[in-house]
Amino acid sequence: MTAIVDRHDAVAVVTIDRQEALNALNVETLTELRDRLRELADDDSARVVVLTGAGDRAFVAGADIKYMSGLGAEEAKEWGALGHEAARLLEEMPKPTIAAINGFALGGGCELALGCDLRYASSKARLGQPEIDLGIVPGWGGTQRLARVCGLGIAKELILTGRPVEAEEALRVGLVNAVADPVLEHALEVAQKLAAKSPVALRVAKRLLNLSPGALEREADEFGDLFASEDAREGLTAFAEKRPPRFVGR
Ligand code: HXC
Repeated sequence: MTAIVDRHDAVAVVTIDRQEALNALNVETLTELRDRLRELADDDSARVVVLTGAGDRAFVAGADIKYMSGLGAEEAKEWGALGHEAARLLEEMPKPTIAAINGFALGGGCELALGCDLRYASSKARLGQPEIDLGIVPGWGGTQRLARVCGLGIAKELILTGRPVEAEEALRVGLVNAVADPVLEHALEVAQKLAAKSPVALRVAKRLLNLSPGALEREADEFGDLFASEDAREGLTAFAEKRPPRFVGR
């Protein structure tokens, strides 16, 4: 099991545990995560959901790059859709969701955190959307949600440059709500407070706050199309071969 649920009274903590790859998500882990989130969305005894990563290095270091290096465009679209579903569950389930970001939250890791209603980071967390350096783009909602959370200017900078930010900068640009150590403890404290509020009012507040137009489907589609490019093949392969990519522009 790589997506584990623990109960703390009415708070459910989902821990992604694939530490040998800094909790990067492969099909098995992401499918398990999606399944646990589906169950928790329908479970009235879980009033708040906290998402975190196992170990002390990573929340989620992204989608599994080694897996992605073998994908064609159609498979990449399916892969995009699976992550979109997990992020959408976090965003739309009728109860608050909180990311406790205990280390690297890169690429798809940052995107899952962006699907959550609240984000707290440990002081050694590092967040970002480094996909551009792999010759691809964020594919699990980052192009839309990062702009909604931090504003278009910050989102453009972080996505176009791929530059990761440390916890303090993440706080300054509004990417996280607070920096706290130990971060899971802090997230649980907030979660317990939310669990004592009216679940009916929380559900409506969340639904209203989420009312904004988006282009998430378009993102999933264009992410997949990029996998037909030589640059995506090169960028993804170069990671596994531990060398800088040589992009050719097609
Ligand atoms: C696969 C990964 C991984 C990833 C880390 N690992 N991130 N494997 N996919 N995303 C693996 C490494 O290959 C290595 O295993 C082990 O985890 C430890 O990582 P190291 O690189 O040795 O650690 P360190 O030097 O401390 O560097 C940490 C790091 C670096 C800065 C986080 O691992 C890194 O840059 N990872 C990639 C981050 C990234 O680009 N994420 C975005 C992915 S794209 P081995 O066995 O090799 O030693 C994405 C798209 C989402 O998420 C949308 C999809 C539709």
